Amino acid sequence: MAFGTGTKCVQAGYKPGNGEPRQIPIVQSTTFKYDTSEDMGKLFDLEASGYFYTRLQNPTNDYVAAKIAALEGGSAGMLTSSGQAANFFALFNICECGSHIVASSSIYGGTFNLIAVTMAKMGIEVTFVSPDCSEDELNAAFKENTRAVFGETIANPALTVLDIEMFAKAAHAHGVPLIIDNTFPTPVNCRPIEWGADIVTHSTTKYMDGHGAAVGGAIVDSGKFDWMAHKELFPGLTTPDESYHGITYAEKFGLGGAFITKATAQLMRDFGCIQGPQNAFLLNLGLESLHVRMPRHVENGTAVAEFLSANDKVAKVSYPGLKSDPYYERAMKYFGCGGCGVVSFEVKGGRAAAESVMKKLKLIAIETHVADARSCCLNPATSTHRQMTDEQLEAAGIPAGLIRVSCGLEDKEDLIADLEQALK
Ligand SMILES: Cc1ncc(COP(=O)(O)O)c(C=O)c1O
Repeated sequence: MAFGTGTKCVQAGYKPGNGEPRQIPIVQSTTFKYDTSEDMGKLFDLEASGYFYTRLQNPTNDYVAAKIAALEGGSAGMLTSSGQAANFFALFNICECGSHIVASSSIYGGTFNLIAVTMAKMGIEVTFVSPDCSEDELNAAFKENTRAVFGETIANPALTVLDIEMFAKAAHAHGVPLIIDNTFPTPVNCRPIEWGADIVTHSTTKYMDGHGAAVGGAIVDSGKFDWMAHKELFPGLTTPDESYHGITYAEKFGLGGAFITKATAQLMRDFGCIQGPQNAFLLNLGLESLHVRMPRHVENGTAVAEFLSANDKVAKVSYPGLKSDPYYERAMKYFGCGGCGVVSFEVKGGRAAAESVMKKLKLIAIETHVADARSCCLNPATSTHRQMTDEQLEAAGIPAGLIRVSCGLEDKEDLIADLEQALK
């Protein structure tokens, strides 16, 4: 039986047997006991599935990962300690020293840094392309050593919307997968796999948790990318892994299982960026109401964006759900709405005006965070990007007067009243 998104949010991933706990159990154990070394040996050989050490896998995490995979329409999923770890694993699972990535330039600053600086130190190079590039410009960015294409459905903080279909087409024409960070819309508003994406990642720290309680990440494989059809490009999946007794992941685990099995057996084993089972439990509580919360975040985001657009102290508003927004058409195609509750606006008067508005806010708190039940805001010029001059900020498309507001679940009238008194 095929269930809808709401039913999956509440029930997917965990099916208790007769007399078993209704809520997912928190398996707070680092290790698992076996009767014989032979039994445990089968796990080490990947001949049997099961648990032996929580640095690699834990049952609580797997229930929650299975729920997120079901929501995204994927074949398998895994949880990571953070969104940063999810994006690193998704890329590093198929890239190695000498590889090249094509990435949208409009992505979260942390991910930009991960790809442009840290992965560069590992010998993995990147070509950034504008999310608004033409098909020809996009195709021109590929090289012989390109192994992945990366972008965010709705970029943080620029709020650009990616043309997922066009990016997927270009990736597939070059024999590589499209990896999409779907943190902002969540699968409630957009399922990138349905538009051609192959791998989907999340910072579950954001809407999925939704309550500012636990940092975490997730990776979902669509199970559709045929690694064996591009055997020479992905030796890590298509040739024997000597660190796992010569297993060839794509042969042994097939289209649906190879990517996540390799990321778990190899990367999680070696890097150990696993999500704690307590955090996975908290994440699941958030997921149970994700389908109820997301429409409210969008409703509040839309109302706040409309209010700000009509305010004479505001120079510019970015929200893909606004008819005047350059990404409105894409937002309607991919989400049918604004997609999330995050709105960016530029106050007239630059840095000083933005600082003074934010000081006067009573309900909307100053935080380095988005996508929470409680509304919050941030001025990149005085926080995340404070090392940059006003001129550098302007060039990066982040004017000094820019304020990013994450609209929570409060009454929209109260959020608007708070902004109105602060702007006054
Ligand atoms: C779109 C996006 N991806 C990834 C991340 C990184 O996630 P985390 O903070 O959970 O490591 C963030 C964090 O803000 C984000 O907004």
